[in-house]
Amino acid sequence: MAVPCISYFLLSVFFIVIMLHAQMLFTAVSAEQDTKLHVVYMGSTDPAQENGESYAAAAALHLEMLHSVHGSCNPFREAAEESLKNSYWKSFGGFAAMLSSAHVEQLLNMDGVVSVFESKKLQPLTTRSWDFIGFPASAQRNNLDYQSDIIIGVIDTGIWPESESFSDAGFGSIPSKWRGGCQTTPDFPACNKKLVGAKFFRSVPDNQKPVGDFLSPRDVQGHGTHTSSTAAGNHIYNASLYGIAQGDARGGIPGARIAMYKVCWIDGCTDADMLAAFDDAIHDNVDVISISIGTNITLNYFEDSIAIGAFHAMKRGILVSNSAGNSGPDRATISNYSPWSLTVAASTIDRKMTSELILGNGMFIEGIAVNTYTMEQLWYPLVYGGDVANVNGGFTSKDSSNCKLNSLDHTKVKGKIVLCNFDVDRPDYSVFIAGGVGVIIMLDNSNDIAYVFLNPTTVISTKQGQVVLSYINSISSPMAKIQKTTTTKARAPIVASFSSRGYNPITFDILKPDITAPGVDIFASWPKNSSLSEYLEDTRFGDFNILSGTSMSCPHATGAIGFVKSYHQNWSPAAIKSALMTTAFVMDPTLDETGDAEFGYGAGQINPMKAINPGLVYNTSVGDYVKFLCREGYNDTNLRLVTRDSSSCDLIEPSIYGARELNYPSIMVVVVPGQHIQAIVPRTVTNVGVAKSTYKATISAPSGISVTVDPNILSFSSLNQQLSYNVTIEGGSIPTNKLLSGSLSWSYENYIVRSPISIYCIDKGLV
Ligand SMILES: *[C@@H]1O[C@H](CO)[C@@H](O)[C@H](O)[C@H]1NC(C)=O
Ligand SMILES: *[C@@H]1O[C@H](CO)[C@@H](O)[C@H](O)[C@H]1NC(C)=O
Ligand SMILES: *[C@@H]1O[C@H](CO)[C@@H](O)[C@H](O)[C@H]1NC(C)=O
Ligand SMILES: *[C@@H]1O[C@H](CO)[C@@H](O)[C@H](O)[C@H]1NC(C)=O
Ligand SMILES: *[C@@H]1O[C@H](CO)[C@@H](O)[C@H](O)[C@H]1NC(C)=O
Ligand SMILES: *[C@@H]1O[C@H](CO)[C@@H](O)[C@H](O)[C@H]1NC(C)=O
Repeated sequence: MAVPCISYFLLSVFFIVIMLHAQMLFTAVSAEQDTKLHVVYMGSTDPAQENGESYAAAAALHLEMLHSVHGSCNPFREAAEESLKNSYWKSFGGFAAMLSSAHVEQLLNMDGVVSVFESKKLQPLTTRSWDFIGFPASAQRNNLDYQSDIIIGVIDTGIWPESESFSDAGFGSIPSKWRGGCQTTPDFPACNKKLVGAKFFRSVPDNQKPVGDFLSPRDVQGHGTHTSSTAAGNHIYNASLYGIAQGDARGGIPGARIAMYKVCWIDGCTDADMLAAFDDAIHDNVDVISISIGTNITLNYFEDSIAIGAFHAMKRGILVSNSAGNSGPDRATISNYSPWSLTVAASTIDRKMTSELILGNGMFIEGIAVNTYTMEQLWYPLVYGGDVANVNGGFTSKDSSNCKLNSLDHTKVKGKIVLCNFDVDRPDYSVFIAGGVGVIIMLDNSNDIAYVFLNPTTVISTKQGQVVLSYINSISSPMAKIQKTTTTKARAPIVASFSSRGYNPITFDILKPDITAPGVDIFASWPKNSSLSEYLEDTRFGDFNILSGTSMSCPHATGAIGFVKSYHQNWSPAAIKSALMTTAFVMDPTLDETGDAEFGYGAGQINPMKAINPGLVYNTSVGDYVKFLCREGYNDTNLRLVTRDSSSCDLIEPSIYGARELNYPSIMVVVVPGQHIQAIVPRTVTNVGVAKSTYKATISAPSGISVTVDPNILSFSSLNQQLSYNVTIEGGSIPTNKLLSGSLSWSYENYIVRSPISIYCIDKGLV
C-alpha cells in the first residue's frame, strides 16, 4: 500500500527544489488548521489472529494506512507517525489519529474501514437506594463466593483507591481469568484484591494531564469513585455525610472486584480514549462494563464510540450498562440507545433532602438541598439580590437578582442571606465571594434533586420565592435562617426531571430507555481530597457525597447485572438484560407529570432479587443483531468487517417486521400521522425457570387498541427449550406525539414475565 520513497540518488538532482517544496508543504501540514482527532473504526479483529495479534502488527497496519494518506517519504512519514494517537487491536480494530477532512475522505475509501468520525468530547453524566428497590444487604451477601469471581469494569474519571469501599480486607485471591493490569505511578501506588485493575487513557494532548488532575488512575472529580462504589463498593456501616443520610453505604455487589479505566479528565472524555478503554476492558475479561458517559448528539451505531465498544463487548459476552443521559424531560433526548446495551434512566428513591428556610416572622418554607451547615446565630439579615446590585461594577438589578458573578455589592451583602434567581454561574459562589453567609435559590424546573452547595443554601420554587420577597418588602429588617438538611419520606419512584426520555432517535421500533434505577440524591464514596461542592474554596472534605444523575442510576444497573451474572455465568448479555427488564417493578405512569410513561422508565424500575429467577428470557445472538443491522441499512462490506465472518445481508430474507423482528424484551410500534395501527411482532422465549411449566399470556391493551397473542399458552417440557409466539396489534390512527401504553405478561406460578407494549405516532417528516 505504501509508496516507496524515491532514492536519494534521483532526489539529489532536484535536491534544492524538492527540499524547498517539501519544507513548504511540511509547514502547511503541521500548521493545517483542520486536523482534528478522529477515530478510524475497522470492525472486529481477525478471529484467526485474536490471540496472536500484537500491538506492533496493528500499529504497523495503522501507520501504513496513515502513510498512504500523508505520503510515506519524510517529512510526511514523520507527520503520519505523529498523527497516530491510539491503536485498538485487542478486542476490535481501528485507531485514533489527527486527520484533515481530505485524509478522512481517503481513509473512508480504504479497504477495512467501517467508519471514520471525529473524536468528540463527552462528559460524565452527573445508601439507601439499594434497600429502597427491595434488595437487602443479606441478599447481596448470600452468594459471596460467586460474587468474588465477578469483575466490574468501570469507564470513568478514575478512582480513589484508599476509600474503604475498595479495601480488600477479607477478599481472596484475584480470579485467574483476570488479564488486566494496574498502571501505578507515584500518586497511585497500587491496586489490591478488591480494586484489581486501574489504568488511564489520555491520547490528546499526548499523555499530558490537564491542570488539577492526576496523570494516573486517581480520581480528582469524584464521579468515578462514586459510580464504582455504587456498583460494587464494600459494605460500610454507619456512614453519613456530616450526619446527613446516616446509614450503611454499600454497592450492589459488594463481594465483586472492580477495574477502573480512567478516560474522563477535568476537561472531558474523548471518543478516542473511551474506545481504548473498551479495547482493554473486553480483553481483560471483565464481566460487565459500566459507562456513565454520554452526549446529546444523535449518532449512528458505528459512529458512536460507546455503541461500538458495547457491540464488541456483547460479542464477547459482556453486557454494557449505559446512562440514558441528563437531557430530559424533552422527548427523544436519550443517548446510548444501541439495542445490544442496557440503557438506564434515573428515578427517585423514597428519601427527600429538605433544608428548611425559616423567616423572621416565624414562617417555615421547605427547601431542597444537601446543606451540611448548622448556622450559628439565631437570625441573619435577609436581602433580595435585585436590591443589592454592584452598581459601581456596572451591574444592573436584573443581573444581581440572578446573583450573577460579581453583580452583588459587598457592602450590602456581607453577613447576610441573599435571595437569588438561578444562574448558570451558580449563585452560591457569587454570594460567597461577596461575603454573604447563605443563599436562597428560586428554581422551578429541577426541584426533585438536592445539590451540594458551597455555603448554607436551600432551593425553593419561584412561587415560594414570591412569599419570601413579600416578607422582605413588608418589614424594615427582614431576617432568616437556613436549617441543616434532614431527610424525609417522599413518594417514589418517579422518573427524575433530568433523565433523558425516549423515543429512540435512530431505531424508532425499539423502545429506549430499557429500565430505570435510583439516580436522585445517591449517597456513595468520594475522594478524600476533593471538596464536597468541588469548589476550591470549599473546606469540607469527607469519604462520601450525595449526587444525582443517570450517571448514578447506571452503576445501580451495573451492580444488578453483576448480581444476576454471579448466579448465571453462562447467560448471554441479552438474557441478563431480558431478566432485568421482564422482572422490573412496574411504575405508576400517573406519578410522572410529563406523561412520558415508558419513554421515561422503559420496562420499569430494576429489581435484582427477581431478576435472578425470571422464568423465561428473550435471548438474542450476535447473528440476530447482524440481521438487525442489515435491516437498518448497513451493507455487507461493513458488516463483514464488524463481525469478521461471511455473514451476508443478501441471504437475509426481507422482513415484514422490520426492527421489531429483533427478539427484544419490550415491544414498540411506531406509526405516522393518519396511519392505522397494524403490526405483527414475533417473539421467542427460552425457558430458564421450571422444566415442565405452562405459561399463560395476560394482555393489558391500551383503550381502543386490539392486542392478541398467538399462541396464548406456552407449554414447556424442558429447560432451555424455546417457544415462539406472535403479538398482533391493531387499531385506528392516533394523534402525532401520542404515546399509548399496554403490556404483555406471561405467567406461571410465581413467575411473571412482563413486556411493556408502547405505541407512538411520530411525524417522520419532521424527524
Ligand atoms: C454512628 O456514627 C455516629 C457519628 O457519625 C455516632 O454518633 C454513632 O454512635 C454511630 N452509631 C453506631 C451504631 O455506631
Ligand atoms: C447538548 O448539550 C450542550 C451542553 O452540554 C448544550 O449546549 C446543547 O444545547 C445540547 N443540545 C441539545 C440538542 O440538547
Ligand atoms: C491528599 O491530601 C493530603 C493532605 O493535604 C496530602 O498529604 C496528600 O498528599 C493528598 N493526596 C493526594 C493523592 O494528592
Ligand atoms: C442465549 O443464546 C446464547 C447464544 O447466542 C447461548 O450461549 C445462551 O446459552 C442462550 N441462553 C441464555 C439463557 O443465555
Ligand atoms: C457500503 O457502504 C459504504 C458506506 O457506508 C460504501 O462506501 C460502500 O460502497 C458500500 N458497499 C456496498 C457493496 O454497497
Ligand atoms: C407468526 O406469523 C407469521 C406470519 O405472519 C407466521 O409465519 C409464523 O408461523 C407465526 N408464528 C407463530 C409462532 O405462530
